Amino acid sequence: MRAKRCLITAGPTREALDPVRFLSNRSSGRMGYALAAEALRAGCRVTLVSGPVAIAPPRGARLVRVETAEQMRRATLREARRAELVVMAAAVADYRPASPAKRKLKKRTARLSLRLERTPDILAALGRRKPRSQVLVGFAAETHDLLANARAKLARKNLDYIVANPVGRPGSGFESSHNRATLLARDGSTRAFPRLRKEALARRLVRLLLDGRAH
Ligand code: CTP
Repeated sequence: MRAKRCLITAGPTREALDPVRFLSNRSSGRMGYALAAEALRAGCRVTLVSGPVAIAPPRGARLVRVETAEQMRRATLREARRAELVVMAAAVADYRPASPAKRKLKKRTARLSLRLERTPDILAALGRRKPRSQVLVGFAAETHDLLANARAKLARKNLDYIVANPVGRPGSGFESSHNRATLLARDGSTRAFPRLRKEALARRLVRLLLDGRAH
């Protein structure tokens, strides 16, 4: 059997404010790296597009390191062309400083306002150009109305599946070793998982996503 080609994104992005400062988020990369490790274990050829994280990549993955949302967009769209399974687990910054300073900002005023602009929505771009044979999976981290928000994202971004994650309470999500998740499929079916270590959740998700039996 030919190895399936999987593309997984992971970690945060960093958006420069000046040469020494950036805006980012609390993503550890752990969920995406665990998904990559499981896909490798299942015999896939794995490309991992990763923002800056403090953990080691799984052995055998092709690692593409990026920093900004724009760099992640370029790498991901390029790598996605040949992938049969694409999982967008990265926590891409939604906004970036509109005009990053070329020189270090000096403190002069009591208050400082930042003007931000939207970053490109990589997952939506993937959804627009998705080949028929590709399975496209997104993540939805939500503090409220978890399933309704996740289902709306699945439809809006033309996904096959979305992993809905409650965030903002202790014991799962960002910076945690554990996660709570519900997998929603395009056909309306759902599969809820108990609170699991991210590695255990990754194993279940990859199995379901690879053999297409998520429901
Ligand atoms: N995502 C992306 N590019 C962005 C922002 C997000 O590809 N610029 C991806 C994430 O990797 C994730 C999914 O989109 O798989 C959900 O991201 P989220 O920011 O929660 O969704 P939005 O549709 O941007 O909605 P909102 O910010 O309103 O919750």
